[in-house]
Amino acid sequence: MSIPVLIHLLRERLSWREQPRVPEPNLVMEDAAQAASFSEAGEDGGVLAFLHLYNALQITSVLHPGDRVLDLACGPAHQLAQIARLNPAVQFVGLDASPTMLACAQRTLARAHVGNVELVQGDMVRLLDQADASMDCVICTMSLHHLPDQTALCATMREVRRVLKPQARFYFTDFGRLKRIATQRFFADDLRQSAQFTEDYFNSLRAAFSVADLSAAVALLGQDVQRHMTALAPFMVVFRSAFQRPIDLPTLQRARQAFAKLPATQQDNFRSMAQWFRTGGYALPCKLD
Ligand SMILES: C[S@@+](CC[C@H](N)C(=O)[O-])C[C@H]1O[C@@H](n2cnc3c(N)ncnc32)[C@H](O)[C@@H]1O
Repeated sequence: MSIPVLIHLLRERLSWREQPRVPEPNLVMEDAAQAASFSEAGEDGGVLAFLHLYNALQITSVLHPGDRVLDLACGPAHQLAQIARLNPAVQFVGLDASPTMLACAQRTLARAHVGNVELVQGDMVRLLDQADASMDCVICTMSLHHLPDQTALCATMREVRRVLKPQARFYFTDFGRLKRIATQRFFADDLRQSAQFTEDYFNSLRAAFSVADLSAAVALLGQDVQRHMTALAPFMVVFRSAFQRPIDLPTLQRARQAFAKLPATQQDNFRSMAQWFRTGGYALPCKLD
């Protein structure tokens, strides 16, 4: 972890004032420029590639071969494609409210030659096309902060509970709300991306729910919940079911190949993210290098 990051995190720790939540200006990402900028960041070698592999590995540990898995707000599906590639014996449904994003997702899946994902348009707050007890697992990455308010967040969790089979599994990860606007600005600027991406990132950090609000909503699932956070501040938060599948050898080999294909800076970012979570008490299910 760099010294500037550490300084910001320590200031977060010491701060007693909290920023109010500012919902995303575009809840559903329909704007073509915004969707393109986010999608580009998720491509092979893009700035989000390391995060996709990190999340994919953690999410793999809540999946079983043969599962049917719903990904809420899949966006351009770079994250979903990475999870699907690691888990070829799992069937995924990627849901998003934005036709623009779903068109990006279609292209992502075709380019990645991923055949175990079906895409559907829908609202995660009301899963109209998903039957009761039809899913073995529901996942959601970097999207809950796109909901307008706590009421919508709670409604989403009630829908997750409805579509999950009894005692089925889940994995949600998102930003947690930071206390200081200076820390939010620092992280948004730190990636040194386009003005569009930087502004969208800043807006996402401002729209993040507090850990308390996320915890209260996830409690509606009525299951044991494991909560994990990056050390010192909840920059990233994970809520997951307790089930932990050991990573088998073929999956480990696929993950290692994916890691080897990351550019060196992305490999470093992967290691930093893994260490940041590990320091907060949440380790990866296996080592990639
Ligand atoms: C920041 S993107 C995250 C995409 C993806 N999960 C990832 O990790 O890369 C957020 C996505 O949430 C979608 N979204 C926002 N509100 C939604 C809703 N109520 N139902 C379904 N999708 C929604 C947006 O259209 C956008 O594609």
